[in-house]
Amino acid sequence: MTMPPEGHGTRILGTGSATPEKVLSNQDLEQILDTSDEWIRQRTGIRTRRVVDQSTGAGTISLACDALENAVANTGIDPLEIDLIICATCTQEMTCPSAACRAQARVGAFNAAAFDLAAACSGYVYGINIADTLIRQGRHKTIAVIGADAMSTVMDYSERSVSILFGDAAGAAIITRDENPERGCIYQNLGADGRGWECLYMPRREIDVPESDKETPIRLGCLRMNGREVFKFAVKKFLSVIETTLQEANISIDDVSQLICHQSNLRIIESARERLGLEKDRVYVNIDRVGNSSSGSIGLCLDELNQAGRIREGEIVLMVAFGGGMTWASSLWRV
Ligand code: ACO
Repeated sequence: MTMPPEGHGTRILGTGSATPEKVLSNQDLEQILDTSDEWIRQRTGIRTRRVVDQSTGAGTISLACDALENAVANTGIDPLEIDLIICATCTQEMTCPSAACRAQARVGAFNAAAFDLAAACSGYVYGINIADTLIRQGRHKTIAVIGADAMSTVMDYSERSVSILFGDAAGAAIITRDENPERGCIYQNLGADGRGWECLYMPRREIDVPESDKETPIRLGCLRMNGREVFKFAVKKFLSVIETTLQEANISIDDVSQLICHQSNLRIIESARERLGLEKDRVYVNIDRVGNSSSGSIGLCLDELNQAGRIREGEIVLMVAFGGGMTWASSLWRV
């Protein structure tokens, strides 16, 4: 969907993020799993991930709250000016209340409505797109979007093909109205194909487990993934979503100053980068340090780029994600 040029635009007022202090390295995983640092680095590009210390009560909610607090501090905004908070997550500690409500209370954004959004790793980009649309429609002026996941809380650390990939993180952005209608999201795409749900799911009950997985030992409450299928889907989808986005927006890849891909696997990101012919410094990568943090991933990348002064006014930034559902999303911004 291309955004109409009339009316007003949007801008990213500021960003924040949060990662736990505790580091889980490949060497740590070697102690508990039949795996090796070399295998993990070669197949995924990951060296370390950050994980919450669950014994202190830390988890998705504390990460979401910290990220939003940091975004509020980064913008200097009065939290009472925020009129909506969207928190994308697939690791809710409680389905009621939402993590968004908890973050609202933490920062004192008492004029804001708040809800959680479940689109797995695509959740943050879904949230950014919804925020841009609502602001352009004039119903809201300032929206905080958080992506937060404590993936370590849904990992089965006896399952080597899944647990090596994931880490915990949150990213937040505060988006507000801008008088320039050309500024903000210039093209967005949201997609889903529910037929692929069995590739990535978290069963709560035995009955949730599909026939195809009945023979595999599964810990209830933990993420289950068909890595090969997700890999094939991701490689194809990343490229087609990026190409469609550029085509529909009538923008060349040469105009994009930063491509921010969901940090799922370095090989997936590299395959898209090579096929698009992009130089390394135009495709942000932090998966080596933090692993795949699902909904936290793109928000964390955006904040790290922003803090480094690499999100410059007027430039074009493209965010692309895919995830469980299956879901996917793109968001092309003139920032
Ligand atoms: N250490 C050592 N060996 C391993 C490990 C491990 N951690 N995991 C699997 N293996 C073995 C397998 O048992 C297999 O052995 P076999 O040949 O004897 O049967 C061999 O390595 C190859 O296994 P594959 O599954 O084919 O390995 P692959 O190269 O596909 O890599 C991986 C696996 C890294 C999971 C890859 O498939 C992948 O990254 N998929 C995409 C996952 C992804 O992006 N998920 C996030 C989705 S986003 C969201 O919404 C949550």
